Amino acid sequence: MTESKRVEALESADRQTQEFLAVLAHELRNPLAPIANALTLLARKPTTDPAEIWVREVLTRQTGQLGRLVEDLLDVSRITRSALVLDRRPADVRAILRHAADASMQWFDERRQSFSISLPEERLMADVDEVRLSQITQNLLHNAAKYTPDGGTVELGARREGVEIVIRVRDNGIGMTPELLSSAFELFKQAQQGLERAQGGLGVGLTLVQRLVGMHGGTVQARSEGPGRGAEFIVRLPLRAEPAIVRPQAERPATSGPAGGARRRILVVDDNRDAAQALRLLLESDGHEVQVASDGPAGLAAARQYRPGVALLDIGLPKMSGYELAQRMREDPALKGTLLVAVTGYGQMHDRARASACGFHHHLVKPVEFGALQQLLRETV
Ligand SMILES: Nc1ncnc2c1ncn2[C@@H]1O[C@H](COP(=O)(O)OP(=O)(O)OP(=O)(O)O)[C@@H](O)[C@H]1O
Ligand SMILES: [Mg+2]
Repeated sequence: MTESKRVEALESADRQTQEFLAVLAHELRNPLAPIANALTLLARKPTTDPAEIWVREVLTRQTGQLGRLVEDLLDVSRITRSALVLDRRPADVRAILRHAADASMQWFDERRQSFSISLPEERLMADVDEVRLSQITQNLLHNAAKYTPDGGTVELGARREGVEIVIRVRDNGIGMTPELLSSAFELFKQAQQGLERAQGGLGVGLTLVQRLVGMHGGTVQARSEGPGRGAEFIVRLPLRAEPAIVRPQAERPATSGPAGGARRRILVVDDNRDAAQALRLLLESDGHEVQVASDGPAGLAAARQYRPGVALLDIGLPKMSGYELAQRMREDPALKGTLLVAVTGYGQMHDRARASACGFHHHLVKPVEFGALQQLLRETV
């Protein structure tokens, strides 16, 4: 085989691996949404049976873990295909870090680790994608918890240094060898684990952190004085140059009443029947009225007859895509008041643009987090 043939073969194998990863992550993600929603529903039923409580906790925790792995895998594959676009806006990094820390508390609690956060009085403004910066921070916090024995300590801090915002995640855990320090950011790289793979994981977390930080124009660095001596990860992001214009958030009157606010008539169109059914039950238990359809034409017929206040439309529908369904609904004067929400497995910007071009008012990314949907319903009354 000539050199160029060999290179070509390698490149094609790499492309196939990438495509396989993308499809794999995507296919794993679809069943996760109904499972997560079904669990939320189950959690609403009061129970005192200790065995049942335990089973629920295990299912919820493990599904969350599976969901995070799949999301990470999907993101790495998006980044490799240049399909991940940041949604950067001026934001106070302190608020994002606090939020990421809140979301990580369970890991520290489970291991009885003490966690502290130290942030300055001054605002730390940067042009960031909030979701991604939170993901970066949570990945580092998760690693810190994972690679630190029970009872250890983890610290998160941030401060301004010149024209940079410096975020530090430090633990007093198992530490890293110089060899691992120089390679930990590589895809699928993990320290040698025993056959039992007690730590688990895929070795994508730090790759993702590095790529996402890089896309923000920043850098990330790992430090450790050696095995047993803890580790520190330092993220540097460019500080936002000009003073930020503070746009006041639109004041929304606090809604009272049931968890979902006012009672709405909602149409759910999704060909994944389990996903649709789980969503229906959750919405109904919030006091809403719900109808379900499982393909485009059935969705259109149901919309015309039912005249929903809100329509949650899956995009990848059989017979007629969610985009087309939205357009057809937009064209119908009787459905002028219907709020159209796209529910898609693809979170990229171009999909959002396409969705709003087709008349969608909002866009939710699968798996739909029920809390986010509740908020949307409250805010759009
Ligand atoms: N805080 C830390 N202390 C010690 N070692 C760490 C720390 N963070 C990461 N490492 C080492 O770097 C490796 C790569 O980390 P990375 O987050 O990419 O993967 P992972 O945690 O093994 O799996 P994943 O994040 O995909 O679930 C880890 O397997 C671990 O050996
Ligand atoms: Mg990790």
